[in-house]
Amino acid sequence: MATLRLENGTIYSDLTDIRPQLAPLNIHLNRWPVGDNPELQTLLAKAALSDSEKEQVLTALDHYFAQLQQEAGYQSRDLIVLHPDIPNLGDLLAKFERCHTHADDEVRYIIEGEGVFGFVTPTGEQMELTIQGEEYINVPAGTEHWFYLTPRQRIKAVRYFSTTEGWTPDYTDTPIRMSRQSYEQAR
Ligand code: LAC
Ligand code: NI
Repeated sequence: MATLRLENGTIYSDLTDIRPQLAPLNIHLNRWPVGDNPELQTLLAKAALSDSEKEQVLTALDHYFAQLQQEAGYQSRDLIVLHPDIPNLGDLLAKFERCHTHADDEVRYIIEGEGVFGFVTPTGEQMELTIQGEEYINVPAGTEHWFYLTPRQRIKAVRYFSTTEGWTPDYTDTPIRMSRQSYEQAR
């Protein structure tokens, strides 16, 4: 389950407590079950997936994509699979660990593993959300955020896109005040 940590050290671990904290940012966080399809469960348990295995996973979860297509005009989806054996993992992650925004909403469905999203609120406060499997998040365009993996360094996430242009971060260079150290201690 998701965990939200505020700058003053307060930790919320219940969706009903986390949602009001995210409301001023207009961030949506939902629980989306992956279901009990045994083939899907087997694929989710593996660290690395081939392209055809990724496609199998995406197909098994395409009812969620169909819903987003209908309701919000989403056009494409892909699957990100990160694990400690990826040779350039550090370089990949370095792009997102600084404060940035995007021109489109950042829409992610975490299906396995976990990651940490940091946010800057409209009043300049910072908070960190640890997001885990079976959780869907929509971070609106223009929201200042950063992202990193937990020490497990493992995540599988479906990304949904409303435009077909490349997915690029616009860096804001807001200094991140929250320390990862205290995040790890908090767990
Ligand atoms: C991204 C996340 C990881 O931009 O912030 O894809
Ligand atoms: Ni981002």
